[in-house]
Formats: sequence, C-alpha cells, structure tokens
Amino acid sequence: MRIVLVGPPGAGKGTQAAFLAKNLDIPHISTGDLFRANISQGTELGLKAKAFMDAGDLVPDEVTIGMAKDRMEQDDAVNGFLLDGFPRNVAQAEALDVVLKAEDMQLDAVLDLEVPEDEVVKRIAGRRICRNDSSHVFHVSYNAPKSEGVCDVCGGELYQRDDDSEETVRRRLEVYHTQTEPIIDYYRAQNLVVTISALGKVDEVTARAMDALKK
Ligand code: AP5
Ligand code: MG
Repeated sequence: MRIVLVGPPGAGKGTQAAFLAKNLDIPHISTGDLFRANISQGTELGLKAKAFMDAGDLVPDEVTIGMAKDRMEQDDAVNGFLLDGFPRNVAQAEALDVVLKAEDMQLDAVLDLEVPEDEVVKRIAGRRICRNDSSHVFHVSYNAPKSEGVCDVCGGELYQRDDDSEETVRRRLEVYHTQTEPIIDYYRAQNLVVTISALGKVDEVTARAMDALKK
C-alpha cells in the first residue's frame, strides 16, 4: 500500500505511523525525522533545513522533494510506504504524482487525522522524543515512558524538540492551515481522502485508522 498521512502538528502522525507501518508491513517515511537525523549527523542538508525548522517554516521544496524521492526509491519501499509529513504543500503533492506516475504507481489512500487545536497544543507541550531516533515518540502524561526521560525502545535520552516552543508551534499551525491543508482538496479531487478523528487512546486511533484503510 502507498499511503499519505496528513494532519496538523501534534495530531499523532508519527505515533500512528509506527503502528500502521508495522501492521501493513511497509516503511514509515517521515521527512521531519529525515531532517532531524541529518541535523544530528551535521550533514549539509541538515544545516540547510535547521533554520527553517526552528522558525516553524517549511524547508524549501528543492531540498525536500529530492530527499523524499531518494528515500522512496530505496529497496524497502518497492512494495509500498507510509508517508508522514510529505507532501506538505500542493507543489510537493504534484511532484509526488510525477514520481509515482514515472513508476506506474498510485497512492491507495490519504489518511487525514482530525484533532481540535487545543488538544494539539496539549500533545505538543508534553511530547518527548528520543535523541537516537526521533521516530521514538512519548508524552509525559498521555504516553509516558516506563522510566522518566528514557526511551522504552532503545534506552536513549528523551528531550523536547527545538521547534516545540509555544511561538514556533503557533507558526507551524499557521503554515499547516495555509500551505498543507490545500493538499486535502487536491487529493479529494482524486477521491483518496479518508478522514478519521485522532481523539482517544493511541490504540483506539490505530484501530480506527486500520478500519478506514480497509474500506
Ligand atoms: P514534522 O516532524 O513532520 O512535524 P509536524 O508535522 O509538525 O508534526 P509533529 O511531528 O509535530 O506531530 P505528529 O503528528 O507526528 O505527532 P506525534 O505523533 O509526535 O516536521 C517538522 C518540521 O520539519 C516542519 O515544521 C518543517 O520545517 C520540516 N518539514 C518536514 N517535512 C517537510 C516537508 N515535506 N516540506 C517542508 N518542510 C518539512 O504526537 C504528538 C504528541 O502527542 C506526542 O507526545 C504523542 O505521544 C502524543 N500523542 C499521540 N497520539 C496521542 C493520543 N491518541 N492521545 C494522546 N496523546 C497522543
Ligand atoms: Mg511527527
């Protein structure tokens, strides 16, 4: 299956993607995680991305599209993938269509996670992620690690993302509404969008998502 996950910052895309990717046996491809890995490795791409991310703005398309395409072309993605945080504007959605068309492939679904803004703010305020791998995501009260400050998956140190400050979150939400939400209409025109509520416990949302994808 080829799936795009869409939803505001803090909706739970990364959290759900980990379970959905496992259930569906496809790789979880998060452009945010790819950027954060590049930043921690000090690559040129990471250096380019950091200032945009810290400001809550989108990293320019010429950097992002190439990186996403390279990742989608890796061996583990030949039979499908779950995209988290890409595409994030209409130009990226059009670029993805070009990549897929060239390989005679199509998307199966665009899963839209709906969450009220006050919940998103609470989720982001308590989020902690792992230094070793930013796809290991926790929350101090909603999804607490077994041992405070320590990643359940790999034992790494948990920390708060640099772009999770109140001011940056406000900007990220604004960018979501103006630049990312239009892709939902873009995909509605292709009849691909399934919208679910992302409220409730993590496993309840996963079950809802799996149900929606089966249809
Ligand atoms: P990215 O890393 O993609 O961030 P985002 O879209 O803002 O989304 P988040 O990761 O903040 O939220 P999420 O939905 O994954 O929520 P999570 O599962 O962590 O992008 C970061 C930046 O990179 C962008 O601002 C941009 O600069 C750049 N970038 C990335 N992709 C780009 C692109 N394509 N083009 C240009 N620039 C790009 O959950 C949040 C919290 O809630 C966690 O603490 C979790 O434990 C908790 N939680 C999850 N589910 C539940 C639940 N059901 N109940 C209670 N708590 C829950
Ligand atoms: Mg995420």
